[in-house]
Amino acid sequence: MSATTSIQPGLLLGKGGSSNVYAWKENKAIKLYHSEEKAKMMEREMENTQIARKAGLPVPKVYQTISIGEQKGLVFDKIPGETLWTALQKKPWKLLRLVRKFTDLQVHMHTLQSADMSELKDYFRKKIEEKTALPPELKARAIKKLGELPVASAICHLDYQVENILIHKEDLVLVDWSNACAGDPVADVAYTCMNLYRSKAPVGKSVYQKILIRMGLSYFIRIYLRRYKKKSGRSLHRLKDWLVPMVAMYFQSLSPGEKKVLLQCIAEKNK
Ligand SMILES: Nc1ncnc2c1ncn2[C@@H]1O[C@H](COP(=O)(O)OP(=O)(O)O)[C@@H](O)[C@H]1O
Ligand SMILES: [Mg+2]
Repeated sequence: MSATTSIQPGLLLGKGGSSNVYAWKENKAIKLYHSEEKAKMMEREMENTQIARKAGLPVPKVYQTISIGEQKGLVFDKIPGETLWTALQKKPWKLLRLVRKFTDLQVHMHTLQSADMSELKDYFRKKIEEKTALPPELKARAIKKLGELPVASAICHLDYQVENILIHKEDLVLVDWSNACAGDPVADVAYTCMNLYRSKAPVGKSVYQKILIRMGLSYFIRIYLRRYKKKSGRSLHRLKDWLVPMVAMYFQSLSPGEKKVLLQCIAEKNK
């Protein structure tokens, strides 16, 4: 269902790379995309959210697409609670308990299959081939690697990270389903690792706080990987192989420094 409205959104609930999310009417949230370009993912996000919810995952109910003036958006149930990222910073003593919950939800998600989400390797191949700004050597390596990696049909969120998880009454709720695909769970773990390694302290923190946050994240990654292997019984030997297509997919979001290091690594490998 789609609608146009002149009602203005309420309080800002959260911000992401593609959107701002505001309170909307009673108990609802509206996700307004930053641009027409970002809003291209809207239908896909709505569909994936519905599939994930039907599969029994803790996901907010999605109602409709909506336009407010020039801006497009999606209406969801509002999840009252803070993100896992906020909770980790405010209550660092809960780190171990939160990493366990974070990991267990992903392990559970990977036991579920979907025939309705895009097939991960096809989706990645198409997206990587379309990327005109991608260095040709990276594009070639990513496409080659993709060909060698397995086809599977587990639900992969592909943006499974601490800012896309809300904590509601001690339970985790997973938002931001625009990238989700059905595929090899190890691909999803590779994304999560890449994201955690690249996570930084929010601006405005002191040097001391930044060091503590970095140490906390390193500990988080260690516990996460160890628990994921144990709970899923899955070997992560393909993790490194998935990183190449993963980096190609998300190349535009890397900093100039990260791009430089990465391209040097690829040049070394090609020697
Ligand atoms: N249904 C919701 N209820 C309450 N807050 C939400 C909801 N969905 C998202 N948020 C908040 O908005 C932020 C951005 O939403 P998200 O869907 O992740 O957007 P983006 O695609 O821009 O990253 C989230 O990190 C979270 O803090
Ligand atoms: Mg997000």
